[in-house]
Amino acid sequence: MRFGSIIVIVALCSFTAYYIYEPIPEEIEERWKLMLTNSFFRSLSHLADLSELLGLKDYMGVMYFITLAEKVVPESDEHIEVTEETFDGVEVVLYQPKQTGGDTELSRAVIYLHGGGWCLGSSRMSPYDLLARTLVAELDAVVLSVEYRLAPAHHFPVPYEDVYRVVKHFLQKGVLAKYSVDPGRIAVSGDSAGGNLAAAVSQQLQKDPGQQVHLKAQALIYPVLQALDLNTPSYQQNQDMPILPRTLMVRFWSEYFTSDKALFRAMMANTHNNPESSSLLKFVNWSAFLPETYHRKYNYSAPAVVQGVGGEGVGMEGLAQSLADPRASPLLVPDSALRSLPKAYILTCEYDVLRDDGIMYVTRLRSAGVEVTHEHYDTGFHGGLMFTVWPTDFLIARRMTNNYIKWLEENL
Ligand SMILES: *[C@@H]1O[C@H](CO)[C@@H](O)[C@H](O)[C@H]1NC(C)=O
Ligand SMILES: *[C@@H]1O[C@H](CO)[C@@H](O)[C@H](O)[C@H]1NC(C)=O
Repeated sequence: MRFGSIIVIVALCSFTAYYIYEPIPEEIEERWKLMLTNSFFRSLSHLADLSELLGLKDYMGVMYFITLAEKVVPESDEHIEVTEETFDGVEVVLYQPKQTGGDTELSRAVIYLHGGGWCLGSSRMSPYDLLARTLVAELDAVVLSVEYRLAPAHHFPVPYEDVYRVVKHFLQKGVLAKYSVDPGRIAVSGDSAGGNLAAAVSQQLQKDPGQQVHLKAQALIYPVLQALDLNTPSYQQNQDMPILPRTLMVRFWSEYFTSDKALFRAMMANTHNNPESSSLLKFVNWSAFLPETYHRKYNYSAPAVVQGVGGEGVGMEGLAQSLADPRASPLLVPDSALRSLPKAYILTCEYDVLRDDGIMYVTRLRSAGVEVTHEHYDTGFHGGLMFTVWPTDFLIARRMTNNYIKWLEENL
């Protein structure tokens, strides 16, 4: 069934004042459409809670319906050759411009990592397929879309490691030559959790002494960048905003690490920091790294530090280390680890719990001397760039896509 018909049916079924009426700031464009879209997500989320409560299917299992409903089979067309391959054991979808008139010029390449909180999403969802095609058409680039494995079936570090393996495989001179890619013009990019993976991979590649081909750029679209403080001003301001309410982001974070619900409860209360992660809180100190306009209405207090997660003694092997791991939270590194990173594009939205993650990274990268282009959307909401397909197509998605591609055009 098409996603369009499903969303219309579900939205109609949930057409009650309760579901639809959610105060959405006046300045957001196409408010009614966003309320309707959000009513679909909220209905599904309530259904998922109910299903988990009744022991039918776990929460993420039900939410995964969004991914299934939008799945397409990426196909070649007149201008683009699409192939599904396996790079070092990980599935990828590869989009290549068809060479015209026998020219064998080398192309740029974009390695794209989809969003979905490490638990949902797929390269084969129609908005990602469409974005990949647009990148090929506008940039004449090869696009490598990575089908990394997902939580909760595969907790951290599996999704990250899948991406890292693909990137290492692709950045070999022989492989790049096979796809006619210019080794000097490769970017990694992703939205939301994909932005998290893109930032993490950029950092880890720099640390790899054997790495010969380097990334030229990283483009992070409303990225998730830290798990230590889930009460930044943007988490507080936007806790009930459409698409990604705070509860859902906290659920994504906890499910990335473990299926033990004690972590979810501790993260909701922001009492999940342990002695191991507490020494890193200075890297996510929003009173230091956010411009005054974003934090003046809020008083900073550092998150509580508790022995054992949330004082509930969640003694899961490795959880304390995971919380402190920069491969999960790229903000948790000293400036010295940021200095040699590729130039960055960072997109943030005002009405997004993750706004401050992105802005803090802008501040930190700039103070480490990295060239950063920061595009902040005053009327933007989380996930905006993906809403390009009818009936959930938004004007802001088009603006975001155009600006993002323009940056790649000029910087890659
Ligand atoms: C956070 O930054 C503020 C000032 O910018 C400082 O007073 C405070 O001690 C810092 N706290 C932590 C935990 O780093
Ligand atoms: C922040 O602290 C000031 C001074 O203590 C207080 O007046 C204000 O209400 C506090 N603001 C918030 C949002 O808690």
